[in-house]
Amino acid sequence: LFASVQLAPKDPIFGLTEAYVADQRPDKVNLGVGVYYTDEGKVPLLKAVIKAEEAVVAKQSPRSYIPIEGPNPYNSAVQNLLFGADSALIKDGRVVTAECLGGTGALRVGADFIKRLNLNAPCAISNPTWENHRGIFESAGFEVVEYAYFDGKTRGVDFDGMVKSLESFPKNTTVLLHACCHNPTGADITEAQWRQVIDICKNKGLIPFLDMAYQGFASGIEQDGIAVRLFAQSGMSFFVSSSFSKSFSLYGERVGALSIVTQSKDESTRVLSQLKRVIRTNYSNPPTHGAAIAAAVLNSAELRKLWEDELAEMRDRIKAMRHGLVEKLAAAGVKQDFAFIEQQRGMFSYSGLTAEQVERLQKEDGIYALSTGRICVAALNTKNIDKVAKAIARVLA
Ligand code: LMR
Repeated sequence: LFASVQLAPKDPIFGLTEAYVADQRPDKVNLGVGVYYTDEGKVPLLKAVIKAEEAVVAKQSPRSYIPIEGPNPYNSAVQNLLFGADSALIKDGRVVTAECLGGTGALRVGADFIKRLNLNAPCAISNPTWENHRGIFESAGFEVVEYAYFDGKTRGVDFDGMVKSLESFPKNTTVLLHACCHNPTGADITEAQWRQVIDICKNKGLIPFLDMAYQGFASGIEQDGIAVRLFAQSGMSFFVSSSFSKSFSLYGERVGALSIVTQSKDESTRVLSQLKRVIRTNYSNPPTHGAAIAAAVLNSAELRKLWEDELAEMRDRIKAMRHGLVEKLAAAGVKQDFAFIEQQRGMFSYSGLTAEQVERLQKEDGIYALSTGRICVAALNTKNIDKVAKAIARVLA
């Protein structure tokens, strides 16, 4: 039966974590996977999460099935976070939200749903993008094409290229956009550029799908939500996948959501009914625990404040590490200008390191990064940053 099964390549991100775990060197550093670590090198358990979890556990709720689309307190908290508590779209019943298994699960449910609309159009992803985007949409049956995004020379966004690409796509192309903290480059477009992208999506009849996995990691909850807010004002129908993996440090709980903006309450009812069929035939209904924690935090003024403070702490520490790395690279004798690391936002930096240089870092220093040169700045700390800067300086020399 399995005689002809080929060995699949390792996942470029989690495969690297497997190699890191197997590495016996005590001072190894994992800059591969997108996970935030504290200065002590630990994945944090947020105080807001601990408090909410204590309350959830104390309730000793039975674990029956929850609705196919997830619990209402969770879904409405997600909507308020993404669209703003005073959003007219929410009031008018034009937002459909379903709890999904992390941002990845939300992307897949959204992809399956769009596929069932039989629009016969491709999905466009940024070049480059998060490794899994292509896989998710191809698995859902899409032809996946790319739009220009990153300019290797400026290490910023090639916006003219992006515009040209978007304008070339046929009607009903699903355009996957990173709402903030672009993964893997850390290069985001400006508010004015978002307005232009929205105009193109509208004029060309494209289907915007915003992937929002890092809300709060660039500037703050409200500021990082700007793309969603602008699309909300545009009058278009669009999709948002969101995740609490990073912002709540709840990676393993798989807490995410898919939100779909429709044209009317009636449309929402029909869209939700179809979305439930997609979910039911995939994993039936979502798990209880992670969403209960997220809802308990977001629906309590006290815990929400605590969470936002902790999120700010994570954000500030990442910024300090970006600053530190730029300084230490210069101090280690690196001649190239690495100031771009401080301009990039979120967990990642597209460092410009080549695959060969990345391989040397792994072999010679036990420093793991993606072969594309993406490094997770959120894994740097005051104990490993000197080692990392010196090693990078050496492979660049
Ligand atoms: C990453 O890009 O490293 C994270 O989003 C983790 C993942 O699922 O790949």
